Amino acid sequence: MFRISHFIRELDHPTPVAPRRNPPGPVVIWNLIRRCNLTCKHCYSISADSDFPGELSTADVFRVMDDLKAFRVPVLILSGGEPLLRADIFDIARHAKAMGFYVGLSSNGTLINGSNIDAIVDTGFDYVGVSLDGIGATHDKFRRLDGAFDASMSGIRLCHARGIKVGVRYTMTEDNAHDLSALLRLVEDEGIDKFYFSHLNYAGRGNKHRADDARHQTTRDAMDLLFETCLDLHRRGIDKEFVTGNNDADGVYLLHWVTRRFPERAAHIRAKLVQWGGNASGVNVANIDNLGIVHPDTMWWHVPLGKVRERPFSEIWSDVSNPLMAGLKRHPRVLGGRCGACRHLDICNGSSRVRAQQITGDAWAEDPGCYLSDEEIGLSAAECRGERVVTTPFVSPRRTA
Ligand SMILES: C[S@@+](CC[C@H](N)C(=O)[O-])C[C@H]1O[C@@H](n2cnc3c(N)ncnc32)[C@H](O)[C@@H]1O
Ligand code: SF4
Repeated sequence: MFRISHFIRELDHPTPVAPRRNPPGPVVIWNLIRRCNLTCKHCYSISADSDFPGELSTADVFRVMDDLKAFRVPVLILSGGEPLLRADIFDIARHAKAMGFYVGLSSNGTLINGSNIDAIVDTGFDYVGVSLDGIGATHDKFRRLDGAFDASMSGIRLCHARGIKVGVRYTMTEDNAHDLSALLRLVEDEGIDKFYFSHLNYAGRGNKHRADDARHQTTRDAMDLLFETCLDLHRRGIDKEFVTGNNDADGVYLLHWVTRRFPERAAHIRAKLVQWGGNASGVNVANIDNLGIVHPDTMWWHVPLGKVRERPFSEIWSDVSNPLMAGLKRHPRVLGGRCGACRHLDICNGSSRVRAQQITGDAWAEDPGCYLSDEEIGLSAAECRGERVVTTPFVSPRRTA
């Protein structure tokens, strides 16, 4: 996850650069149920409104939580499918809160209504994230349900009115990119606390429909708009979080934007971006699916690492006998193609490895989702022709008059 707003704040209020440190345990995104009332075109969990047998019981979940706590996992994001379809969702979330986890709810928002808002408030979720993949009909088409947008908006407003920190999650493809600016206006008008921009990842139905992925120029325009919007709000004293997911090249793109807009800050922002360190799948982000199978992150459901019913999560996560886990945990990662030659690999860490693996079969090949030009990744003309690459450290551009 890439926190745009964190770096935008650094432009006006720079803070000291510290060495890169990993948190004590990974953030765990936990798909507690696969059932869903929607069947979104891009859904990595291939969810649908049917029963998926073999899911973890409440007792299983509580037992796993003990291990996660002992392993110093700080954050649980309760997700699905649609987590509100799990009858014990509030018991699970309350238990997690009582154990001291930061607990987020990741919902499509359509089922948040007058009958459960008190329970959502009383549970004390630290954050509720609701997906909005466009405005009105765009969202309904993407999520394949007429009326989904109105229902999700109603859920967002209920949460907001009750003082819950609420965010909007938007996954962009070529089909809904035209609604980004309207969504950003909506976020401001509705007083929504956070905007999470997700790039499409090639998992589940998102892989099947990967031809719909945003063109590189569409992504670049979207990033420019996000950076400018975040800066504008910040300078108007409106404090919101802007984050992106599924493409850590965003950090490098931000560096180039800063170099153009605030050249005097480029060296500082670069140092801060290196401190962040890019993609954290398999290291600081983990996933447990509805059957209790552990994956390096939510987009790796096609790679099982082990089952929490058979081995503790802590053991599965620390085991690097799986070559994917060993490679993800290497720092710097050993990558091929443009990623291997990139001068900014220390910022992005090779981004999500899923797209490379789905397209080429090689998890360490270049990320086809990297939308940076050869010049932006520091390739010389000779390197672009495939000759041997020798990288040199980044040199901050001189301040221009
Ligand atoms: C699987 S959903 C579960 C929570 C809830 N049902 C929802 O839709 O928000 C979690 C988030 O992942 C996003 N997502 C699903 N498949 C994706 C993909 N292939 N690439 C990027 N994001 C994806 C969804 O849009 C949603 O914001
Ligand atoms: S993305 Fe969320 S709402 Fe859509 S089908 Fe998947 S789990 Fe359901």
